Amino acid sequence: EAKAETSASRFDFREVEAGIDERHHVAEGYDADVLLRWGDPLFPDSPAFDPTKQTPEAQARQFGYNNDYVGFIPLDGSSEHGLLVVNHEYTNEHLMFPGIVQVVEKADEKNPGKTLTELKIADADQTRVDIEMAAHGGTIVEIRKVAGKWQVVRDGALNRRITSTTEMELTGSAAGDARLQTTADASGRKVFGTINNCAGGVTPWGTYIMAEENIHGYFTGKLPEGHREAANYKRLGLPEGTYAWGQFHDRFDVSKEPNEANRFGWVVEVDVMDPNAVPKKRTALGRFKHEGADNIVAKDGRVVFYLGDDERFDYVYKFVTAGRYDPANRAANMNLLDEGTLHVAKFEEDGTMEWLPLVFGEGKLTAENGFASQADVLIETRRAADLLGATPMDRPEDIGPNAENGRVYVMLTNNSKRKDDKVDAANPRANNAFGHIIEIAEDGDDFAATKGRWEILLKCGDPSVAAVGATFSTETTKNGWFGMPDNCAVDTAGRLWVSTDGNSPKATGRTDGLFAVDTEGAARGTSKLFFRVPVGAEMCGPLLLPDMQTAFVAVQHPGDGGEDWEGFGRLSYYEDLSTRWPDFQPDMPVRPSVVVITKQGGGQIA
Ligand code: FEO
Ligand code: CA
Ligand code: CA
Ligand code: CA
Repeated sequence: EAKAETSASRFDFREVEAGIDERHHVAEGYDADVLLRWGDPLFPDSPAFDPTKQTPEAQARQFGYNNDYVGFIPLDGSSEHGLLVVNHEYTNEHLMFPGIVQVVEKADEKNPGKTLTELKIADADQTRVDIEMAAHGGTIVEIRKVAGKWQVVRDGALNRRITSTTEMELTGSAAGDARLQTTADASGRKVFGTINNCAGGVTPWGTYIMAEENIHGYFTGKLPEGHREAANYKRLGLPEGTYAWGQFHDRFDVSKEPNEANRFGWVVEVDVMDPNAVPKKRTALGRFKHEGADNIVAKDGRVVFYLGDDERFDYVYKFVTAGRYDPANRAANMNLLDEGTLHVAKFEEDGTMEWLPLVFGEGKLTAENGFASQADVLIETRRAADLLGATPMDRPEDIGPNAENGRVYVMLTNNSKRKDDKVDAANPRANNAFGHIIEIAEDGDDFAATKGRWEILLKCGDPSVAAVGATFSTETTKNGWFGMPDNCAVDTAGRLWVSTDGNSPKATGRTDGLFAVDTEGAARGTSKLFFRVPVGAEMCGPLLLPDMQTAFVAVQHPGDGGEDWEGFGRLSYYEDLSTRWPDFQPDMPVRPSVVVITKQGGGQIA
């Protein structure tokens, strides 16, 4: 354990030593307990998890794969009893299905005499695809703290799985548009399922927000020659065909159902208080690779949603509702997300910024440029933002507004393709391998403002390597620095927590983790490692409950080989280190899981 307390820091815990092994690690004096694993039963009738006998029906009654966003909706206002809402972003077949991976040795063309190991995955069948589809989406599950430890309430009346086949409704200006109509749905309003739900949000009125991110991987086939969606789909990388779903479900094959992909890439709102409620895809918040939808109530009661579009050179957005939040009348808030203004950020060189409205008929968003309605602006949000001159960013991920100091933190994870001649003040590093964090101060401390100021809070990476140009404070230890900020959370005291995605042994000799980052006073820019994941995993979540006595983190794809293997993972990729986290049983695969962190003996996370 390393010791690095500074009197100015708002964090007192003794940080974890950075490194890599098969287990998770949390700061001394805290417990980090596995709460929910992939396959865990969520209902009294859920089948027990058996990886050799998995079925789509069983998976639909069990906790899904690759937990990402974690949110909490209190029941009776309590920080000890509520609904945990968790996104299941995607699936890793090679880690899920025993016996489908074949290891193939082949000559390494770049290094004569050496061999390379490649993984070949057996062709998909319909059962496998349907299990994957049932492992996507989200989970809503009641949890309760009993004698200081959290438990899942398996017979909770509000427990629910949402999957890639759950019936949903498209609402807002684009709903019903011809471009959203399909063979199965002439109304353009009824869609089945949600996919690649990355980060998300919980609204002040207690609904669960799921953001649809990398939708392009699920669609296959070729659009009919001259189809009107060609440019639209190209801008989103559609169809990429990573998954085999289109072989078994025509709607994921764009040659057969060319409009289906327009029905994904939205923000989904779920009323968790009614387990039969039809989730709403809120088109007013635009269509792109939605990272998350953290939100905050502005001074005048309008609600502001901060939205990242996670692609190299894409944009930061915010949506401001037209109506005002009414804390005394939940029903009155339930359709706030259908009317309002979507804006895209332009970061100026002088530290000012502007939020540009994406409104049909204004500026260049007219028929001359191919927009016939607000529906067109929303369906092709990226192209509309291009025309307004928004600032292309280094992969905007999660964005966290801070009610305590009025600031907003934007995670920009990396951008290896930014060239020297394309750097700007807001994206100042060419070949930005480690990412950075921008802090926005909205004009008049009003989150609904259309102008603001910004500065860079942190350039990430190893501060001991001068060429990296990292800007962590000198109080930050060799354990405390990080690269690739991805998700973030702001706790009740206004402190910033950042989780990372992409630290690999090859690049940094350490795994991903959860870092506590000081933003105020002399300690500004100091970071400390609170939790780290097992080998191959990525750190998602995080969430601190309002009483600050509990933190939830999501360990995603433990044991995955990641990018070192050209799109295929393998169970061991660092020397001979592998993991069977969290069960460490020979007959159990690695299982993405939500971990709950509490202080030993009780008390706040400090
Ligand atoms: Fe799903 Fe942008 O990370
Ligand atoms: Ca993310
Ligand atoms: Ca990421
Ligand atoms: Ca991530």
